[in-house]
Amino acid sequence: MSNFAHKPVLLAEVLATLGPSEGGRMVDGTLGGAGHAEAILQASQSGWLGGCDRDGAAIGAALSRLKPYAHRCDLRRGTFAELPEWIEPGSVDGVLLDLGVSSPQLDHPERGFSFQHDGPLDMRMDDRQNLTAAEVVNTMDEPRLSSLFWELGEERESRKLARGIVRERQSQHFATTGELASLIERLSPRRGRRLHPATRVFQALRMYVNDEVGLLERGLPAAASLLRPGGRLAVITFHSLEGRIVKAFGDAASKASPPTLGWVRRKVIQPGDAELDENPRARSACLRVLQKSQGEP
Ligand SMILES: C[S@@+](CC[C@H](N)C(=O)[O-])C[C@H]1O[C@@H](n2cnc3c(N)ncnc32)[C@H](O)[C@@H]1O
Repeated sequence: MSNFAHKPVLLAEVLATLGPSEGGRMVDGTLGGAGHAEAILQASQSGWLGGCDRDGAAIGAALSRLKPYAHRCDLRRGTFAELPEWIEPGSVDGVLLDLGVSSPQLDHPERGFSFQHDGPLDMRMDDRQNLTAAEVVNTMDEPRLSSLFWELGEERESRKLARGIVRERQSQHFATTGELASLIERLSPRRGRRLHPATRVFQALRMYVNDEVGLLERGLPAAASLLRPGGRLAVITFHSLEGRIVKAFGDAASKASPPTLGWVRRKVIQPGDAELDENPRARSACLRVLQKSQGEP
């Protein structure tokens, strides 16, 4: 486990809202290091957990961490949008989606997610897919690169950065995260800003390479379809674009006629100071919880 350490965020809040119980059925659609999953399984003697992650290393770590509970869990590699292919719709009490990347994905330079460590410009959560960040950075045309940085990264200097990358790649093939991060630092010097100037570009590339918006838009209805009436969907987001997608999905479902889901609380749940002191990576986490309407199939 030591090489796949990820502190689960908002753990107490997730347990309180999903309320794993004896004989209950829970789903974790983003297993990662399986911290949430383990706590859910530990909360009862007889509850079942179905779990998936698209990252093979995460599934390996989850299988080993959850070995003591192997008789009451089913863990598979795949995306959360595919959950209804192997979990009976209408059959579970709670689903957790803890979006984004895990600490090991960020911290292992060879995964190519981070500008803090030099590594290949990769960023694939699922290494069976072909598209990498290097391919995007080296081949996408300037207008598309610029709108990608703007739309997925909310990067205000998107045009300037896209122009600079396209100019630079005429003489240099971008192969590493360090090469890209240092060009961005040259184009957009930090000047006392808290965020590293490459943060938003790296977020945008990661989201594009992994089709995170598409999977979230398909994954939310897929996850909700698994719930029995009264079952809950808990989603943890880490930036505003994801948050807006979850909010729009919940608002539409709660205003449908008849409503298919309702908000458990209107207010987003965020980590308190004690959690933030212990785990600074939790700082932008927001938990939203929806409940399946009674009487829905
Ligand atoms: C923040 S981590 C989850 C951490 C986990 N809750 C824990 O306690 O260790 C997010 C995980 O979700 C996975 N992931 C992201 N998008 C996914 C998707 N659409 N389907 C399945 N897994 C996904 C990533 O590979 C990563 O392992």
